[in-house]
Amino acid sequence: MTRMYDEIVAVTENRPLTGGHFLLSLRAPRQAQATRPGQFAMVRLLGRSDVLLRRPMSVYDVSPTTRPPRAAGKRGANAHRQPEILQLLYKIVGRGTRLMAELRPGDSVGLAAPLGHGFFAEEYLEEARRADEVLLVTGGIGIAALLLPARELATAGIKSRLFFGGRTRADLVGVQDFESSVAGITLATEDGSKGHRGYVTEPLANYLERHRGRKFLLMVCGPWGMLRASAELAKRHGHACLVSMENRMGCGLGVCLGCSIRVEGTGHGAYERVCTEGPVFNAEHVIWAREEIPKI
Ligand SMILES: Cc1cc2nc3c(=O)[nH]c(=O)nc-3n(C[C@H](O)[C@H](O)[C@H](O)COP(=O)(O)OP(=O)(O)OC[C@H]3O[C@@H](n4cnc5c(N)ncnc54)[C@H](O)[C@@H]3O)c2cc1C
Ligand code: FES
Repeated sequence: MTRMYDEIVAVTENRPLTGGHFLLSLRAPRQAQATRPGQFAMVRLLGRSDVLLRRPMSVYDVSPTTRPPRAAGKRGANAHRQPEILQLLYKIVGRGTRLMAELRPGDSVGLAAPLGHGFFAEEYLEEARRADEVLLVTGGIGIAALLLPARELATAGIKSRLFFGGRTRADLVGVQDFESSVAGITLATEDGSKGHRGYVTEPLANYLERHRGRKFLLMVCGPWGMLRASAELAKRHGHACLVSMENRMGCGLGVCLGCSIRVEGTGHGAYERVCTEGPVFNAEHVIWAREEIPKI
């Protein structure tokens, strides 16, 4: 388990992207250097008594400097320097994220990171090494959890491929950041404005069908329905599947139990906390019937 740092850190940039998405850069060397792929942060807006709870956000990227927009995805000369900047890719969905969008360079936020277990617990890394290819599958803002895993896989010489779906093309943010790390990118939009028209799980299903006999590991982050559909596809084709789960979070530290999901076969009881045992779970352990989750 990596050490977590809870500090007040400075905003260096808050760049608007398409579709109500923003890329927030924070000067947070300790958090950036400690983060493993798939871990998340809790962000606290300072001086806002109307937004008390911290907001969970995946760590999208870590880098030595805030990269200029056109250099995004190219690590270049900075690749060997220790990361100092931690980036969060977020979408405005409610009050907290709307206030985040108002942050300007020089403002401060509270940042607790890194939190949770990422995609590369030792047994998962072994699973990735045994696979012919790792399929990174995501919908909407779930993309934020997958850039660091894509890089880690590329560094380890493990081939990966990105399947990315959104409602419209404006949701397909950050694609260029993946280009240097993955062997191929398949896009899908529900309105057909970019890539396959429909859900991204459709081209994923076709890919698995066309490549029967190959061994894949799926790493998935996105809305509940997409996680469940991907887990079912993986099971049907006999592939391992890791899912990064989302849930409302009170504390992010394992104390309030508000983020618990129902699981089976873990050997640790019927519930696990997304913030501490997750957010990444073996899909086989997750009980997918959502109505079975009681209010805690
Ligand atoms: C481990 C984890 C990682 C996440 N990573 C990212 C990320 O990288 N980028 C990003 O934009 N968002 C991410 N989220 C979701 C993000 O935390 C919520 O969108 C945010 O907290 C909403 O805050 P708000 O005040 O704007 O919205 P609220 O006013 O609190 O809610 C607005 C709407 O968003 C829904 N919502 C709120 N919180 C969550 C949540 N935790 N999970 C699912 N739905 C939620 C509510 O049900 C409601 O419909 C992540 C969530 C988790 C648990
Ligand atoms: S958010 Fe409080 S226990 Fe997970």
